[in-house]
Amino acid sequence: MSEHAVESSKPHPATSGWVLVAYASAAGSTAGIAERIARGIGRTGHAVACEPADRADLVGVEALVLGSAVHDMAWLPSASDLLRRTAVAGIPVWCFSVGAVQPRGPLTRLMARLEAQRVAAGFPPGVLVRDHQVFRGVVRLRGVPWWGRLVYRAMSGRPGDHRDWAAVDRWAARVAAELAQEGRPHQNSD
Ligand SMILES: Cc1cc2nc3c(=O)[nH]c(=O)nc-3n(C[C@H](O)[C@H](O)[C@H](O)COP(=O)(O)O)c2cc1C
Repeated sequence: MSEHAVESSKPHPATSGWVLVAYASAAGSTAGIAERIARGIGRTGHAVACEPADRADLVGVEALVLGSAVHDMAWLPSASDLLRRTAVAGIPVWCFSVGAVQPRGPLTRLMARLEAQRVAAGFPPGVLVRDHQVFRGVVRLRGVPWWGRLVYRAMSGRPGDHRDWAAVDRWAARVAAELAQEGRPHQNSD
């Protein structure tokens, strides 16, 4: 599985108390959401960097926003590994999952709820999870077995880019506000 990377500029190593937005993405849609969240948080004055979970260095990181594509109702291994490392370091984490389920009717709402619970149940013990948000990503049916397509279409799912940027921006703003409340230092505060 190839994990996607997006460009990011890391705060200077001397900067303490910065926010890391990290992600695990197999096909790129989670990476795009992570970049958008990083930009949203950065606009509020926090020192922020965005990078793939498998390259993340937690030195100087005071808060982590961590997202993963959902495969088989679980996070990708690099995101789970980083989450485990934050538990050891005692860093608070805001989590987001990117999947395919569109909660439209009662059945799909139930499925989305169960999937979110199942994903969160896979988080290691001791992690300081502040929130867990689920977004929809990009759904590609090419390469999916016929029965998988059938199940997805039966749930009124369509292939394509289902990322809801307004919802992503709202969540980023909420996380930034919570970070400010927790007293995380701002890049441009004196
Ligand atoms: C092998 C595979 C398994 C998947 N399993 C799930 C799943 O269990 N639940 C779900 O909601 N989406 C599932 N998806 C859909 C992806 O989570 C979704 O397409 C997401 O946007 C992929 O993110 P990425 O583009 O960052 O890799 C699966 C996709 C693949 C390729």
